[in-house]
Amino acid sequence: MADDPDGGMLSWDESVFRDEHVFEIDYVPEVFRHRESQMETLKYALRPAVRGSRPLNVMVRGPPGTGKTTAIQKVFGELDAQPGVRGVRVNCQVDSTRYSVFSRIFEELFEYEPPSSGISFKKLFGQIADTLVENEEVLVVALDDVNYLFYEREASDTLYSLLRAHEAHPGTKIGVIVVSSDLDLDVIDDLDGRVQSVFRPEEAYFPVYGLSEIVHILQDRIDAGFREEAVTADVTDRVAELTVETGDLRVGIDLLRRAGLNAEMRASRLVERQDVDDAFDDAKHVHLTRNLRALSENERTLVEVIAEHGDDRAGEVYDGFHERTDLGYTRYTEMVNKLDKLGIIEAEYERLEGRGRSRTLRLAHDEDAVLDHI
Ligand SMILES: Nc1ncnc2c1ncn2[C@@H]1O[C@H](COP(=O)(O)OP(=O)(O)OP(=O)(O)O)[C@@H](O)[C@H]1O
Ligand SMILES: [Mg+2]
Repeated sequence: MADDPDGGMLSWDESVFRDEHVFEIDYVPEVFRHRESQMETLKYALRPAVRGSRPLNVMVRGPPGTGKTTAIQKVFGELDAQPGVRGVRVNCQVDSTRYSVFSRIFEELFEYEPPSSGISFKKLFGQIADTLVENEEVLVVALDDVNYLFYEREASDTLYSLLRAHEAHPGTKIGVIVVSSDLDLDVIDDLDGRVQSVFRPEEAYFPVYGLSEIVHILQDRIDAGFREEAVTADVTDRVAELTVETGDLRVGIDLLRRAGLNAEMRASRLVERQDVDDAFDDAKHVHLTRNLRALSENERTLVEVIAEHGDDRAGEVYDGFHERTDLGYTRYTEMVNKLDKLGIIEAEYERLEGRGRSRTLRLAHDEDAVLDHI
C-alpha cells in the first residue's frame, strides 16, 4: 500500500474497530432484517393498546439467537413513543418467581424498587394496578425467557395474576407476551387449566436464519462496527458458515468481535480467516456461557459435582451434592430437570440388571468448556 508507511500494521492509537459496542450482547441493532412477519404479528396484537384497549396476548417461540428479544425491544421502543401504553420486558432468567416479576414491573412503573423490607404480593399488585388505572395506562408485559418460570413452577401463578388482573382490579388493562426458547416446552399444555382457559395467544415463530440471511445481518454489523475494509467478503462468509453450524446468530456476532481482537493482537489492519477460526472455540460457547451465568450458586455446584462424577448414576451424584449444599432430594431432582431442559446436562434413564431403572447424568458439553465458563 503506497500510502501506508506501516505496511498494514496498526499503530498504538489505531483499531480495526470503528465501534466495538455494536458487538455487545445488549446492543439493539439499528436495522432489524428478516423478521417482518413476526414484527407484524406483534404490532397487530398490540395495536388495541394504543387505542386504550386491552391488547391481544402473544406467544413468541424459536431457538436461541433468532431475534426474539430484539423483536420485543424494537416493538417496545416504538410503543414508548405512544402515550397511554407502557411496555415492560422482564428477563425471567433473572426474575423467575411471580413476586420478582411483579417487583420488576413495579420498579419500571415507579422508577424505584419496592421496599426491600418486603411487602405482600397483594399489596405490590394493588399498587401497580392503582397507578395504571389512575394514569389510564395500558400495560404490556413481555415475559422474556418464560421457560425459566416453568422450571421454577411459577409460570401458572404469574400468568394467572397478569391475565385476570382486571377481575381483581377493575379497570386495569394488561396484555402479555411470553417468549420461550425451549422448543421442548409446550407452553400452553404445561399451564394449569385455570390459566389455559384465559390464554389464547397469537403466535409468532422465529425460525433459525439461513446462510444468506446471516450474511446480510452480519454485514450490517460489520459496517457499523469495523473500520472500512478491515473485514473482507471472504472473512464474512467464513463467519457466516460457522454461525450456520450453530444456528445461533449470537455466535456470529461474538465471533466477529473476537476475530477483530485477534487481528489487533497481531497488530494487523485486516481480519484474516485464521483470526476467525482461532476464535471459534470460544465463540461457539456463547449460549452455554449465557445459560451458566444465569444459574444459582447451588445449581452451579450441581454442575460441578456432575462434572466430577463423570457418568455416575444420579444417586451417587446426589450424595456429593447433598454433602456440599445440604439440600434435599426434591430440590435436587428439580435442579437436575432444569439443567437437563437447559441442555447443560443429559439425564438418561438406563435399565440396570435386577434394579429397575436409574438415571445417568452427564455434561452435555465438553467438560473443560463447562468448567471454564462456570
Ligand atoms: N434480524 C436481525 N438483525 C440484526 N441483528 C439480529 C437479528 N436477529 C438477531 N440479531 C442479533 O443476534 C443476537 C441474538 O438475538 P436475540 O437476543 O434477539 O435472540 P433471542 O431469540 O432472544 O435468543 P435467546 O432465545 O437465546 O434469548 C443479538 O445480538 C441481536 O442483536
Ligand atoms: Mg432472548
